[in-house]
Amino acid sequence: MATEMNLQIRLVSRPHGLPKEENFSWVKQPIPEPAEGQALIRTLYLSVDPYMRGRMNDQKSYVAPYELNEVITGGVIGEVIKSKSPSLIKGDIILGNIGWQKYSLISSEQVRKIDPDIAPISTALGILGMPSLTAYFGLLEIGQPKEGETVVVSGAAGAVGMIVGQIAKIKGCRVVGIAGSDEKNRYLQEELGFDATINYKTTPNMTDAIAHACPKGVDIYFENVGGTISDAVLSHLNYKARIPLCGLISMYNIKDADVGPRIQSQLLINSALMRGFIVGEFADRFEEATTQLAQWLQQGKLKYRENIVEGFENTIQAFLGLFSGENLGKQLVHVADPSV
Ligand SMILES: NC(=O)c1ccc[n+]([C@@H]2O[C@H](COP(=O)([O-])OP(=O)(O)OC[C@H]3O[C@@H](n4cnc5c(N)ncnc54)[C@H](OP(=O)(O)O)[C@@H]3O)[C@@H](O)[C@H]2O)c1
Repeated sequence: MATEMNLQIRLVSRPHGLPKEENFSWVKQPIPEPAEGQALIRTLYLSVDPYMRGRMNDQKSYVAPYELNEVITGGVIGEVIKSKSPSLIKGDIILGNIGWQKYSLISSEQVRKIDPDIAPISTALGILGMPSLTAYFGLLEIGQPKEGETVVVSGAAGAVGMIVGQIAKIKGCRVVGIAGSDEKNRYLQEELGFDATINYKTTPNMTDAIAHACPKGVDIYFENVGGTISDAVLSHLNYKARIPLCGLISMYNIKDADVGPRIQSQLLINSALMRGFIVGEFADRFEEATTQLAQWLQQGKLKYRENIVEGFENTIQAFLGLFSGENLGKQLVHVADPSV
């Protein structure tokens, strides 16, 4: 019988535009043995996220670029299958920033244990993990929503966007979501209670569509995408509007500078605030936020969807799908089941 090998995905060249299969290599290696203080984990789920595209470029950012010929790191839920660490035991389920490989060596400081009895383990990468924390702090800390205000969110049917909209509903706001398909928009309105939605792929005039969906103007624009969608929303800002600048996915694969209207005058004449943020800046409050998110989930005030691609061999495809809108909710790759 052939011995099982580890399989890794490495970045071997920097993409120009949308990444291609040739930017990655698949490397087979023997499954490593843990040294003293380490544990070996089997990957159960891995997360593909838009920010990973930025790390494939050789540019200054809030996090270092991926090195060429190294395993691509990202969020992973894994099971400890061998341990020489006093604080990790066989069968423990852990969350860590580990990477696109089937087996990894870790130390206990690199990971956090997950209690599988609280919620399905995959939720640690979605509704009870980084995307929801991003929605929570971006909306509540920067957006400062007040009852009766109008909140517009782009990328509304994605992992962050659908939580932004639901928290805004909890806070008593009118919520308008922008997403790229009628099916996604139906889900946002019928299942999640969004007040209105716009399909940016089929709407001929986004500025008119925003005016129609937001008769009282826009108090908060939660920015996930940038580009022409952003231009359209920013032309409807109210006095003292707030714009949590979370992401700009429409720009992650462009090859040339994206030029649009100068937005400063919109900010100036409306005394509006636009503030970029990275979720990590709120790390000292993650516990508080996770407790609140879990409570809302339990009370049925928050719902979530996961878009799960089966099989490690489909990881790159799942990642690329983020840029064509394949996912409704958090995009994950299911690699293996826990052994117990
Ligand atoms: N600041 C932070 O700390 C932080 C943390 C997490 C995520 N983010 C950012 O938040 C945004 C959403 O992340 P996520 O994890 O929730 O991803 P996601 O929304 O689950 O997936 C991306 C979605 O973006 C939409 N999209 C792709 N290309 C687009 C384009 N050219 N124009 C408009 N929409 C496009 C697609 O949906 P459609 O079908 O609607 O096109 C796709 O499903 C990203 O910009 C990400 O970088 C920031």
